[in-house]
Amino acid sequence: MSFVLGTAVPDRNLALELVRATEAAAIRASDFIGLGDKNAADGAAVDAMRAFLGTVAFRGTVVIGEGEKDHAPMLFNGEVVGTGDGPECDIAVDPIDGTALTAAGRPNAISMIAASDRGTMLDASSVFYMDKIVTGPAGVDIVDIRRPIGDNLRALAKASGKKVGDLAVGVLDRPRHEGLVADIRAAGAGVRLLLDGDVGGGIAAASLDGDLDMCVGVGGSPEGVATACAVKALGGLIQGRLAPRDDTEREKGEAAGLLFDHVYEADELVRGENTFFVATGVTDGALLEGCASSGR
Ligand code: FBP
Repeated sequence: MSFVLGTAVPDRNLALELVRATEAAAIRASDFIGLGDKNAADGAAVDAMRAFLGTVAFRGTVVIGEGEKDHAPMLFNGEVVGTGDGPECDIAVDPIDGTALTAAGRPNAISMIAASDRGTMLDASSVFYMDKIVTGPAGVDIVDIRRPIGDNLRALAKASGKKVGDLAVGVLDRPRHEGLVADIRAAGAGVRLLLDGDVGGGIAAASLDGDLDMCVGVGGSPEGVATACAVKALGGLIQGRLAPRDDTEREKGEAAGLLFDHVYEADELVRGENTFFVATGVTDGALLEGCASSGR
């Protein structure tokens, strides 16, 4: 199963072609579900996506590639894809968000591409991690990553007409989030620990019919920018703050013009309104059925 989310789809054919590129990647990756080799799954998805993108009538510059953090196969940042005719776009690609999920045969792995006008996506590739917070429209101008999580949960509950105890908060299941998880529980909200895949988590939080009310914590910077494309389409809130792992990464980021101790709002992660996001399920999940189950 696939979907398209767009603030304004600049070219309907392009959106559909990019969906097909995620389908090609997901179908190829489905041969590797449960085989225990995440790099083989990712490599197959990358190859399929790259081959398909080569046939699409556009000039796409990969601003957000993925894989660099764990030396996985990737579509490289700066790589230009497409036939060269048609619209010029920035693209963020993740042939599989959830490579470990795919290898383990677990749910919620997706293949995704986000696109926006050329020159509008933040290139955050020099810093691997970003602290992020995502909610649906109710959180806009209400929730702020600078505030304590308990305050944000109470404010979101009030704005959504819910009790804090009714809120479900997605957090990547990582040791770095132990304190955050304790604070969410202390405020009275329920945590949904995500094994992987905070793009899907962010979309679930931003969607009115998603199973999460908020997705919060440190995940990939590329995933943050890609999620912003989807969240803008859904009218939700996303804020991100870069989380360098060490001084070297901070210096690399500064040299690339990135700002630290700065909260990137949705419109800074992706500027302009001409942005869209497409995805296909690799394994079954809350957001999308896997392509093997849906027969695609
Ligand atoms: P990949 O499957 O592309 O490796 O990403 C999975 C993921 O869970 C992302 O959704 C998330 O942003 C990132 O990894 C978190 O990184 P880490 O696993 O290093 O905490």
